[in-house]
Amino acid sequence: MALAKVLLFSISAVSALEWDDGTGKLPALGWNSWNAYHCDINESLILDAAKAMVDFGFKDAGYQYVNLDDCWSVKDSRDSNTQELVPDPDRFPNGVSGLADQIHDMGFKIGIYSSAGTQTCAGYPASIGYESIDAASWAAWGIDYLKYDNCNVPSDLADECNACVYNLNNPDNYVNGTCVHPEDYCPDGYDFTGTNSAKRFQTMRDALKAQNRTILYSLCEWGTAGVEQWGRDTGNSWRMSDDIQNGWNYVTEILAMNSVIVNDVDFWGRPDADMLEVGNGGLTTAEERTHFAFWAAMKSPLLIGTNLNTASEESRAIMLNKPLLAFNQDGTHGAAAKPYKWGSNPDYTFNATNPPEFWSGASEQGTLVLLFNSLGDDGRSMTADFAEVPELDAGAEYKVLNAWSGEDLGSFSSSFSIDVDSHDTAVLFFTS
Ligand code: GAL
Repeated sequence: MALAKVLLFSISAVSALEWDDGTGKLPALGWNSWNAYHCDINESLILDAAKAMVDFGFKDAGYQYVNLDDCWSVKDSRDSNTQELVPDPDRFPNGVSGLADQIHDMGFKIGIYSSAGTQTCAGYPASIGYESIDAASWAAWGIDYLKYDNCNVPSDLADECNACVYNLNNPDNYVNGTCVHPEDYCPDGYDFTGTNSAKRFQTMRDALKAQNRTILYSLCEWGTAGVEQWGRDTGNSWRMSDDIQNGWNYVTEILAMNSVIVNDVDFWGRPDADMLEVGNGGLTTAEERTHFAFWAAMKSPLLIGTNLNTASEESRAIMLNKPLLAFNQDGTHGAAAKPYKWGSNPDYTFNATNPPEFWSGASEQGTLVLLFNSLGDDGRSMTADFAEVPELDAGAEYKVLNAWSGEDLGSFSSSFSIDVDSHDTAVLFFTS
């Protein structure tokens, strides 16, 4: 009996969050309000965003979720009788349920946001201690997706230590892949599965599962509580860094961080490299291509974070790239593309400016190879040497497709070379 219990426990401890209708098996595709609008959201803005997704072909391309981020509720309190969160009546005159009906009528799903703390990051009421009430409200309103953040954790639920990970706002804490002040962090080999963080996020998982509705669960824990040890057991995706912002260094830093945990990607759960900045003007076209290509290839959720009406045609085309979206949504291969050679650095170097440059992965479309020129100055010729690419056979001949142009580049033996501009990425599919 005791043995059976132990076995049961260990099996459930590694089981993923699988929804009966298949939700969460593949990375979420959609749009989120935060990167473009922060707190400045309302019903008509969200409906306009959904309309733009239809008008510009994003719905047809498979983008499914329209997600509210922070600041959707009344700020000062919950409903004094029911204790429910109250949608801001000025911003959302039809409530969140009225918005959800309209979003559903357009053929999309709708997401909402809260935090596993007393308040959200922007200071709105949040869900700790109210998980069942909030999950029930969201289910009743027709919500399909929850992003659950990590702000304002009560002190009695804090963890005894944090994982030492690269920090986008404090890069000096982690140099050349090494923690500079290890004494400030959890020791090597620490077991994070029993932390208060894991419990806070699992309490909401259980509240969501108790509803008679599928609600995809997206953890926004930022990677500081060893979430890679318990994320798969808890949610369908887990943020692995603090916030992306509208600039190239954020793209390379997150890419460097995610490159070392990309083995954690599989069906039903994956690290979330954060929402896209494509379209927001802080990146060149080459940089936008690299950002999107890697987020797709690492099988991160792909949540558009821009105003599609004002984004350039080029930016929109990048996010509509069919072969990359198909790689991200591959129903046969759950694993992400992985680095096979670091290029401008020795293999296995952690470098926040120059992440690995040579990546590959198996897919229904053949072998994906990404050649990323991380260097700042000129374009350079980059070579996929078949003997180095794990999925390719050194002695075979392959047809090569350029995923950006759609062009068939011809058949090649032993290697394939292409010029890649500074900060750009060649995206190639090899088929025999
Ligand atoms: C951060 C989160 C962002 C955004 C913001 C809202 O913690 O990582 O993606 O949701 O809170 O205040």
